[in-house]
Amino acid sequence: MSLPATESVGKIPVFDAPAGGHLRADMLRAYREAGVMVLRNFASLAACKRLRDRAGELVREFDPDHVKSVFSTTKQNQLTDRYFIESGDKVRFFLEANAFDESGKLRQSKENSLNKMGHAMHDIDPVFDEFSHSAELDRLAKALGIADPVVIQSMYLFKPPRIGAEVVCHQDSTYIYTEPESCIGFWFALEDATIENGCMYFIPGGHRGPLRLRNHRLEGGSLRTDVLSDEPFDEERKVAAEVNAGSLVIFDGRAPHMSGENRSPKSRHAYSLHVIDRRCHYPADNWLQRGPELPLRGLV
Ligand code: FE2
Repeated sequence: MSLPATESVGKIPVFDAPAGGHLRADMLRAYREAGVMVLRNFASLAACKRLRDRAGELVREFDPDHVKSVFSTTKQNQLTDRYFIESGDKVRFFLEANAFDESGKLRQSKENSLNKMGHAMHDIDPVFDEFSHSAELDRLAKALGIADPVVIQSMYLFKPPRIGAEVVCHQDSTYIYTEPESCIGFWFALEDATIENGCMYFIPGGHRGPLRLRNHRLEGGSLRTDVLSDEPFDEERKVAAEVNAGSLVIFDGRAPHMSGENRSPKSRHAYSLHVIDRRCHYPADNWLQRGPELPLRGLV
């Protein structure tokens, strides 16, 4: 028996993480209704700290002047596109738009200047690899209908204090596109995420709407956007996903979501994995491509 659609309108279902990643029928039902689900205490605080510490080490090795030069040249679009496009099998750093002051100096520490790090930590870095692969995650993905799950990308999201930018409403299948669509997002709060420090918002049930865009499609070395539907997102129905560190937010690739800016003195670190089904067609003109030296792997 399925719940009437109205019961989940306006709500993001929240559960304690089930042992071993074994989702109960009521959890699956709630996820299918809302297109999103929170599993509290999925990761231990120690595991969250291990990931934050490792990110800190990687940041210390990163030279922001290199990225600054990439982003300040006159051939800006071409070079910034390449820096992004070529990050699918690397660990690259993306600064907040407001990271530098008028004199070209970082306003804050390196770590507090970054928007994100991506997109292959889960395959390249041993600490991220360990966090990103487990029987629990594999079981979750399979229970949610992905028969042969592979991790297509990882992102470390800094949402730094004071300058963390807003992310406007979007669907992740827009960027992680397969035919048929199969993308699911796994978003781990590594710190408490609140309205104040820029938590995510979802439109529960909004995943039943159409995919609006296919973004970052490669064409002649540039990134293109295809408009698939002009149906607006019903943003008045957005609900804040305030979650504690260790929570896992799972959401459908069609689920409309966004996050607020962070003007607060607290960072809002999170780590995300995007999983697709290997059985689905992965177009050759998707922005994110892997070479043969780093094949896609499953969740275990
Ligand atoms: Fe997203």
